[in-house]
Amino acid sequence: MSVNVIFRMATIDDVEQVKQIDCSYDYEQYSKEMIRSSILNDVNILAILDDVIVGYVSASIVLDEAELLKIVVAKECRGMGIGKRLIQQLFEVLKVKNVTTVFLEVRKSNVVAKQMYLQLGFQKIFERKEYYDGDDAEVFKIEFGK
Ligand SMILES: CC(C)(COP(=O)(O)OP(=O)(O)OC[C@H]1O[C@@H](n2cnc3c(N)ncnc32)[C@H](O)[C@@H]1OP(=O)(O)O)[C@@H](O)C(=O)NCCC(=O)NCCS
Repeated sequence: MSVNVIFRMATIDDVEQVKQIDCSYDYEQYSKEMIRSSILNDVNILAILDDVIVGYVSASIVLDEAELLKIVVAKECRGMGIGKRLIQQLFEVLKVKNVTTVFLEVRKSNVVAKQMYLQLGFQKIFERKEYYDGDDAEVFKIEFGK
């Protein structure tokens, strides 16, 4: 399904709305201060539908490597392709910043997110046993141009 979503970089004026979206994910919720700090220091891209923020992705960059820190889409807007498009938008921004490799960590039980990452070209590289409370972590990586 293709919806009329626009994408833009987050600013600190978006902290409240990003926090609301973040609350729709049960795990590793960020405080407003963490979101504010990430908006100032990392790459944060918003998905906007009818003037409302319906998703965001954030990633930190160190030299030519990035780590995808979080992606959340509002519950009522999932399954519409927004998550995938957010990551594609992120890739475009990271490439301009000369990033060549992106890593991320995901709960082993998070089947939906893992399926999305695989479809986008990420590959699982290793697992961290019991990394999350009662759940293993899987680390994924993508190298642009490979
Ligand atoms: C993970 C998440 C961001 C995906 O966003 P989304 O907008 O729903 O995803 P999309 O609609 O772009 O779908 C992307 C792919 O995910 C997979 N997917 C989506 N919904 C799925 C479902 N119900 N079951 C299985 N796979 C699913 C599919 O591979 C899909 O691609 P396809 O539609 O071409 O088959 C969203 O489910 C979410 O916010 N989850 C809670 C937060 C979270 O788990 N974040 C990741 C860890 S930080």
